[in-house]
Amino acid sequence: MKTSRRVPFNDVGRLYERYGAAIESAVVATLRSGWWLNGERAESFARNFAAAIGVAHCIPVANGTDALEIALKAAASARPGRREVITVANAGGYTTTALRAAGLVPVYADIEEASQLLDIDSALSCLSDETLAIVATHLYGGVVDVAALRERLESLGRSDVAIIEDCAQAHGATSKGRPVGSLGDIAAFSFYPTKNLGAAGDAGAVLTSSEALADTARALRQYGWSAKYRISSAGGRNSRMDEVQAATLDVLLPNLQALNAERAEVMARFAAACPSHVHPLVRAPGSVVHLAVVRSSRRDALRAFLAEHGIATDVHYPILDCDQEGWQALPSRLAPNGLPVSRRSVGELLSLPCFIAMSAEEVDHIGAALAEFPAA
Ligand SMILES: Cc1ncc(COP(=O)(O)O)c(C=O)c1O
Repeated sequence: MKTSRRVPFNDVGRLYERYGAAIESAVVATLRSGWWLNGERAESFARNFAAAIGVAHCIPVANGTDALEIALKAAASARPGRREVITVANAGGYTTTALRAAGLVPVYADIEEASQLLDIDSALSCLSDETLAIVATHLYGGVVDVAALRERLESLGRSDVAIIEDCAQAHGATSKGRPVGSLGDIAAFSFYPTKNLGAAGDAGAVLTSSEALADTARALRQYGWSAKYRISSAGGRNSRMDEVQAATLDVLLPNLQALNAERAEVMARFAAACPSHVHPLVRAPGSVVHLAVVRSSRRDALRAFLAEHGIATDVHYPILDCDQEGWQALPSRLAPNGLPVSRRSVGELLSLPCFIAMSAEEVDHIGAALAEFPAA
């Protein structure tokens, strides 16, 4: 059935329609202040975001990949000689990009079938004397049980391994009542415009409650300076969140819970509409919804069917990190039992439209199309 209705995959313009007046006044005030970098807006957002997540330090940076790189380098500086970082292969390549930039080596663990998140047993099977850190990616808004991961590391006598959270898709999510970003040793956030908390351009942040890691991260994101023009740490670089992005984020931050509730409602309606052969991912309590991901053994047919109904979809992510052509010549390792779940899943995942200010008609239209998708 062809339809004239069109549902985009995303439309940040609608978020802007809702909050534009407040964003414009904050942005204009920022521009008029004549102070566009390294100013009080970034400091204010950092204070507010640290308080929201419940950590002592938030270091604003230019984007989420920088945040990961700086978090990894900060963890590495406390563990000289360690080069391996355990992570998943299904999370879009961001952690691998960051750790390659930090001169580190990825070790890919498998994922749990139902949640598509890090499988803790698989992660532990990857440990070696070289292990520096495990990156727990809270993918699609789902939450990895970081407390369980930490306990298991402790019971193996491996408290030396840092836990880094990648929270780019899980702003405002909690695990056992505690916000993600406060669960590991250090965390990275992206505020890419389509994220649950998004800026009007690129932005990111490193969060930690460790004074030492925060000091190192602060130095690393500013050339390795310990004081102006005095370089005390190697591996530094420039990564700043500009004042316009910080001012925008400070407008949106108080609305994060409401924005998350809106996305959750959209996903709940899709989940209720899915026929028995299309599976929404299972999410632990405290999860949020970033991407509305469903799983189907007929993923490509489902995608084509929804396209015929005018519904745009996307695939997050089509290629596992370990299979990316550009990294084939570089060192990496896989979990001893391989990545059977990651490999089985990669061709079956589909992301449905899920964004702020979708109309009830759009959500109903997607639900109706999902319900009609034939089993074969
Ligand atoms: C899980 C995850 N990690 C890291 C990033 C990187 O963030 P950025 O695009 O701001 O560099 C993203 C975003 O796109 C992401 O989804």
